[in-house]
Amino acid sequence: MVTFTELEEKQKQFKEDVLMGLNSSPKYLLPKYFYDGFGDKLFQQIMALPEYYLTDAEMEIFKTRCKEMMLLVSEFKDGFDLIELGSGDALKSSQLLKCLSDNKVNYTYYPIDISGDVLELISKTLPKAIPTIEIQAKQGEYLEALKEVTRISTRPKLILFLGANIGNMYPQEAESFLLELNDLLNPTDLLMIGFDLKKNPWTIFNAYNDSQGVTKEFNLNLLKRINRELDGDFNTELFEHYESYDPCSGACKSYLISLADQTVSIGSEVLKFEENECVFMEISQKYTLKEIDALAGKGSFMVERHLFDSRKLFSDVILKRK
Ligand code: AVI
Repeated sequence: MVTFTELEEKQKQFKEDVLMGLNSSPKYLLPKYFYDGFGDKLFQQIMALPEYYLTDAEMEIFKTRCKEMMLLVSEFKDGFDLIELGSGDALKSSQLLKCLSDNKVNYTYYPIDISGDVLELISKTLPKAIPTIEIQAKQGEYLEALKEVTRISTRPKLILFLGANIGNMYPQEAESFLLELNDLLNPTDLLMIGFDLKKNPWTIFNAYNDSQGVTKEFNLNLLKRINRELDGDFNTELFEHYESYDPCSGACKSYLISLADQTVSIGSEVLKFEENECVFMEISQKYTLKEIDALAGKGSFMVERHLFDSRKLFSDVILKRK
């Protein structure tokens, strides 16, 4: 349960982050704010788009490779904790959970997410689908919540960080994140991260520039959220979504472009936008296997194994501390 003061704090932080981003040059907004109720639904629609191959590819890995994943944790003889950072609706991981429970493996599932709604939902639905599951949901930021789990349990851990969420960090940020994560793990613990791989640039570009315009709506929804929650007056018709993919660096970036010289109010603040001015929204970084190796090394991890889908679009990478 989120208290009223916590909610107020969150809104204050949201406003501060928005004003900081829109007063910067170039302007930016933080992608973590995409996910209000409307944003969650739009993201569900994105995942079902024919162009957005990522979800199906990773789902295929979880549907076909659970036995191998089970083998990895078979060294945890006295049971282990399965901790999922950013579990969402746990659609993919539930394949593994089911497999573990069917094979009577002793584990506790700790889904971690910023959305209390989604955690409430899976805390009800998962035990119906997997009656023997032990589940302890933790709401909060990934590493804070993980620290809390390490305080209550000293069992070996398998950490899941799926869905190419690591791609929403710049490679430098991903490196710092891995180093922080490394500090919280023991040498025998395992980490599995979902990476979207570099591939034909058009396949990537189209996944983020879909023909139905859902990704555009997903981006514009953040302006609408600012209108709803921070007393803003964005006219979303005066902004368009622009996507770019650089096949050399692997950076896929989303922007909103102002279509006119305009002013926008957020509460008592007035902000100016020039015609064609950009607002940077999100990076979705793509990697080669070599780049994954290098990133793992910088985060003091080593790659144990890649689990690919049949088209090699995506890899769930198993990592261990160096
Ligand atoms: C959540 N994240 C991994 C998605 C991605 O692919 O970067 C977010 C997204 N943004 C636009 N489409 C999907």
